[in-house]
Amino acid sequence: MDLTLKIWRQQNAKTKGKFVSYEVKNISPEYSFLEMLDLLNESLVEKLDMPVCFDHDCREGICGMCSLYINGRPHGNDTGVTTCQLHMRKFKDGDTITIEPWRAKAFPVIRDLVVDRSAFDKIIQAGGYVSVNTGGVPDGNSIPIKKENADLAMDAAQCIGCGACVAACKNASAMLFVSAKVSQLSLLPQGKVEAKERVQAMVSRMDELGFGNCTNTGACEAECPKEIKLTNIARMNRHFIAAKLS
Ligand code: SF4
Ligand code: FES
Repeated sequence: MDLTLKIWRQQNAKTKGKFVSYEVKNISPEYSFLEMLDLLNESLVEKLDMPVCFDHDCREGICGMCSLYINGRPHGNDTGVTTCQLHMRKFKDGDTITIEPWRAKAFPVIRDLVVDRSAFDKIIQAGGYVSVNTGGVPDGNSIPIKKENADLAMDAAQCIGCGACVAACKNASAMLFVSAKVSQLSLLPQGKVEAKERVQAMVSRMDELGFGNCTNTGACEAECPKEIKLTNIARMNRHFIAAKLS
């Protein structure tokens, strides 16, 4: 396939960015989206041009680093996949592909397609952990956990912290991410111990860091590559109100 890429280039958070067009040729449908960008960068380096900066790490859909807005959708036009798992067979010969960084006040651009997502780390530092002493590794089933709760906790634990939910939301809300982390811990016995303090601390840190409010548009759930459910937000809101009233 021969493709035209319209890529957002920006030197840093203080400079103005702009779209720059590039032609890439002979792209195999078997390539991943990031491999296609690797080829573009190789050709830029050969011409002594500055390569396009983009985030990536595992390239297996588990680290959450590959944060690209592709043709107006976080992680592109496939459902339930990260950018690194998106393949070029989803595009057609002659296509023009627009590639942008996440756009949210709390995620300032570092360079080109790379944004600073350390705001998520700060929310996790506020409460996304268990500080009770859980001892050694217990034998399987020595702590009885209701199957439904174990399943819901595992589903929430799939959140990879990519930030697509924030990028997709017109309010740049981080509620889906925070609620997944709160649910993952509060549904399990070890995490229940400090659940009240956790939900209050994480929500207030989220508000301080400039994320917007949730207005139930559902864009986050629709674009989440791990298909984290909005029901986590409802659960977090219930826990938050109960914690405030107790
Ligand atoms: S909830 Fe989904 S979109 Fe948001 S950070 Fe987690 S995995 Fe990414
Ligand atoms: S590079 Fe790790 S999820 Fe895409």
